[in-house]
This record gives sequence, C-alpha cells and structure tokens, in this order.
Amino acid sequence: MKKKILTGDRPTGRLHLGHYIGSLQNRIKLQSTYDQYILVADLQALTDHFDNPAKITQNIVELTKDYLSIGIDPNQTTIVVQSQISEIAELTVYYLNLVTLRQLHRNPTIKYEIQQKGYNKAIPAGFFCYPVSQAADITLFQAELVPVGDDQLPMIEQTNAIVRRFNKIYHTNVLKECKAVLSKTSRLVGIDGKSKSSKSLDNAIALSDPPEVIKQKVFQMYTDPNHAKASNPGRVEGNVVFTYLDAFHSDEESVADLKADYRRGGLGDVVIKNILNDSLQLLLAPIREKRNNLDAKIVKEILHQGTAKAAQLAKVTIAMVREAIGIQSF
Ligand code: TRP
Repeated sequence: MKKKILTGDRPTGRLHLGHYIGSLQNRIKLQSTYDQYILVADLQALTDHFDNPAKITQNIVELTKDYLSIGIDPNQTTIVVQSQISEIAELTVYYLNLVTLRQLHRNPTIKYEIQQKGYNKAIPAGFFCYPVSQAADITLFQAELVPVGDDQLPMIEQTNAIVRRFNKIYHTNVLKECKAVLSKTSRLVGIDGKSKSSKSLDNAIALSDPPEVIKQKVFQMYTDPNHAKASNPGRVEGNVVFTYLDAFHSDEESVADLKADYRRGGLGDVVIKNILNDSLQLLLAPIREKRNNLDAKIVKEILHQGTAKAAQLAKVTIAMVREAIGIQSF
C-alpha cells in the first residue's frame, strides 16, 4: 500500500509562484509514488474570513483549476473539499482537550498572524485553534508526509504533539506522526523584497497572471537601490530579480555569469528583468493555456469524486479514534 501524503491550501485567491516553489512542485513530483490528498481548506479559510464567505466559496473552483493546470492529476491525487468532511470537526473537538492555550500562544505562525491581522486582544477562538483542526486534517487522512512551506512547520509540530498525547492518554497507537517535506526554496520573497510572497500583501506573481501583468510585476521588482547606472557595480544579495532567476531560470550557469557581470558593473536592471520575464513567461504560458481550457463542470465533478473517496477514509479513521477513546454508539 502506498504511503499517504496530505497538503492543503485556503481557497482565498489564486496560487502564486511562492506556492509553486514552496510546495506545488513537490506535490507534482510525489503524486506518482504516494497516495496524495489535497485539501481545499475552505473551513480553515473561514477562520479568518468568516465575515466574507463569498470570497471562499467563489475560489474553490479557481483553486482547483490552479492545481489541475500545473499538473496535479486527479487520477493520482484526491482533491477534497474540507467543509464536506464533517469528521474533521469531530476530530478537532477531541483534540482540543489535548492542547493548552499556552501551546497555541507559543505557535510562531499564529503569533505572526495575530500581529498581521491586528487582532490584539480580540482573537477569535476559531482562528486561534486552527492548528488543532489542521492536526485533524492531517491525521484524519493518516498522512505520513506533508509537503508544505516552512511557515507551516509549527503546524506539523503541533500535530505530532497531539498524536503523542492522544496515543499516550488513550493507550493506543492508532495515530501516526507525520513529517514535513520542504523544498529547497521554501519561502519565496515578494516582488517588493520586503516579506514573503503573499496574496494578501499583493506582492506575488500568480500562476494565472496574464503575460502583461507578469511583465509589469517583474519590472516593479526591488533590485539594488545603489545601482543607479548600469555601469555601477550592483548587489546580487537581496536583489529580487536574482532570487527569482535562481528559483526559475532553467540554466544555473548562465545565471552565475549574469551575477558576475552585475557585480562587476556594466549590466543594467532592464537587461536582467527582461531575462527573468522571458523565463517566467516560458514557465507560465502552458499553465495558463491549460487553465483556460478547463471546464468548470468537469472541475466540480473532480471535486465531487475526490471528496466522496476521502469521506470513506474519514469514516474508517474516526471509527478507530472513537474506539480508542471508548466512545460507544447507542
Ligand atoms: N494552513 C495551510 C495554509 O494556510 C493550509 C492547510 C490546511 C494545510 N490544512 C492543511 C496544509 C493540512 C497542510 C496540511 O496554507
């Protein structure tokens, strides 16, 4: 039997190059050797968008189109709509007993997000506890591997802490610990050079951006502010164009040559931006084309089938969990 892998994304917008390099490439690679599940995490998206559910519901099909267009194959990967699997909610309730508020407060991802969202003291409990329901996501589908960006590492740790505690308290071994699968570049900087690529910060290149938008974003990229003239020596470190060339240009050697020229002086920003634009256009054109040819009806059918298959597995796991706790049926 193949080992199971699970990841997920919140359907709040289009996937971007940061997702591609951080997690999607791994998922494409791993789907043929593992039994892969991908969660369209609409319930989790509600934890910070409960007041705007339309933003989530409208993006479920769009997110799935992103998956299919980059080469996620529905014959190898089960794509699941999270909200349709009510066992996740049940498992979350059991797990909430095994976690302290202190642990949740210490979670670095939660800390950062609380600050970013400006919650201050009024933190919604659903949001605060989402690491617990993410542990339910992962363990309900008995995933051994989780291909994610490194911002998600605290979620994996929290999951494994819950697994250990569950197994210890209920004297069982029905739950298994999982491992993160990280890529080489697991955190892609945004075009502003300030923070990581993110749809909410509007500093990302979406996989479905049209050609002219890609070009415009490449030409907005932060480079070296002291490299005013092409003839000046320029800095490569912290220069977003070079970070993206490293991540997306197919020829490492020619990128190394460009870096040397840039450092020496004599290579203008326009030249390197044009080179990056060319390689991104080459990467994204076939993805865009595939996306444009996807029919919404077929996409919905894929979601329906994936979710139905996942529901079977969810039933099996929740039965084991109830038995381990000693919950009886009447
Ligand atoms: N927290 C993830 C994100 O914001 C999405 C997610 C939900 C997830 N459930 C998951 C990732 C389970 C991995 C495994 O991107």
